[in-house]
Amino acid sequence: MNVLGIETSCDETAAAVVDDERVVRSSIVSSQIDLHARYGGVVPEIAGRAHLELLMPVVAEAMSGAGLERPDAVAATYGPGLIGSLLVGLSAAKALAMSWDVPFVGVNHLEGHLFAPVIEEPALEWPLVVLLVSGGHTLLVQATAPGRYRLLGQTLDDAAGEAFDKVARFLGLGYPGGPAIDRAAKEGDPRAFRFPRAMADEGFDFSFSGLKTAVVRTVERDPGASTPDIAASFQDAVVDVLVTKAARAVADVGARSFCLGGGVAANSLLRLRAPEVGVPTYVPSMAMCTDNAAMVAAAGAFRLAHDGPSPLSLSADPNLSLPWTR
Ligand code: KG4
Ligand code: ZN
Repeated sequence: MNVLGIETSCDETAAAVVDDERVVRSSIVSSQIDLHARYGGVVPEIAGRAHLELLMPVVAEAMSGAGLERPDAVAATYGPGLIGSLLVGLSAAKALAMSWDVPFVGVNHLEGHLFAPVIEEPALEWPLVVLLVSGGHTLLVQATAPGRYRLLGQTLDDAAGEAFDKVARFLGLGYPGGPAIDRAAKEGDPRAFRFPRAMADEGFDFSFSGLKTAVVRTVERDPGASTPDIAASFQDAVVDVLVTKAARAVADVGARSFCLGGGVAANSLLRLRAPEVGVPTYVPSMAMCTDNAAMVAAAGAFRLAHDGPSPLSLSADPNLSLPWTR
């Protein structure tokens, strides 16, 4: 069963064909980073218009890459994300499904990220704990089986990726901030500054806004401070909290595997330290960490098999959360 997946929730225009829930036959991602970089962040209106221009060529490339004239179903992200961007992919997916006369299925972007390890790791064992860290979310999730999720903890303020982006902007490192800090940190000393590890010893929730403020205060007090040292010390604090809490969650729920997901999972220190949680750890490839449509197609195939097609009246939902079970 070939599912065409479409992803346009933020600033990546992506289409992919996935066969049998996990065989990626094609995956095309057209990044808009260059369009937004000069504004220092994603401009929703520019993103929407760019999706409109890029989507059909990207879909055509994914279809020809898979050697297909017509898929068996079309899946598209319907939330969470930027409303104008979501609508482009969602409307296109419905129109394509109608014209090909195949089922349409709406996909939760966050569930998509949770399917990245499912695609890449056939050996995954449930229950698993997933740390989903992106520009918009920081979630610690227990998955008892595919599609069954329990929320263990989340950020109370900034998302992990948002903290990277804000600190990078403050340090003048540019956009997107995560990769820029990652690069700068390689030249710095992570022990140069001792930044706070908020709530590290309590519960599974996160808070990153105090850390961001601590970075700002430090630089204000010491304008000559080395940027690589600040970047390395900041990254060390974020990763320390993420890994500490993930390890506690793994032990607490008796997880058999641990997975990373989301854009921040591309961080080199997080990837290096993830195995510290103490169970087999799966770190998706870089392309599977950041937004792509293969994960959307895989989650779509799963939802189609379990819940059937979505109605063509399905609306975009910018604030959609994961379907939690108890
Ligand atoms: O999952 P994603 O591509 O888009 C969202 O759904 O948000 O995640 C993007 C986020 C951005 O905040 C970006 O700065 C961060 O992931 N990111 C990183 C790295 N690469 C991307 N953060 C830390 N280190 C990286 N190497
Ligand atoms: Zn994402």
